[in-house]
Amino acid sequence: MFSEDQWIDWVDRLAQDDYTIIDDFISESLYQDIRAFLRRQQEEEEFAKAGIGTMGDYQIKTSVRGDFVYWLDTKRDQELTPFFELAQEMIATLNRYCYLSLSGSEFHLAYYPPGAFYHRHLDQFRERNNRLISVVLYLNEGWQPGDGGELKIFRPDGNDVLCEPLARRCILFKSDVVEHEVLLTHTDRYSLTGWLLYQPASLGYLLA
Ligand code: OGA
Ligand code: MN
Repeated sequence: MFSEDQWIDWVDRLAQDDYTIIDDFISESLYQDIRAFLRRQQEEEEFAKAGIGTMGDYQIKTSVRGDFVYWLDTKRDQELTPFFELAQEMIATLNRYCYLSLSGSEFHLAYYPPGAFYHRHLDQFRERNNRLISVVLYLNEGWQPGDGGELKIFRPDGNDVLCEPLARRCILFKSDVVEHEVLLTHTDRYSLTGWLLYQPASLGYLLA
């Protein structure tokens, strides 16, 4: 779907800066398909309150994160196959050019209602550290400055980055080193968020 040069450019930036922002990552038609899928899951009340941690110390703490998630399954959720194929292409590229050995992925849809946020954190857990690369694809039609819900990326040099959650924008970052935070949102905020793993998802999968 993308040229080799485009992938190399993104992967270079990820290697150098620990994150990379890609605008218009998916086509308008795939975007509409994902939005329709999301609306359907929401109507059917399939979203659940997100928690923190894995099996052993899983907790729901609204004071840390206020979003709702719907875990995706590649077999069940075949409407999203084109997205999963794109993720596979991403894994193949990262393995080829960054000498990573990614072998799986896990994704969920996320919904932040007005007033929700997610405090500063890392995406790797102490007891489960197989998340290598975080991937967030934003699904917010007509996002405007003032709507809130920006992703704040903390940089070691203090030059923190604010990433606006614009429709069809994708951000990749290294899960083990990039501390980040979702700022308070004033409007409904949607994303498809996931992780590229260097081992298959294990027991923590459903709760993490
Ligand atoms: C997460 C997360 C970032 C975002 O779900 O772990 O940090 O911008 N999401 O939604
Ligand atoms: Mn995170």
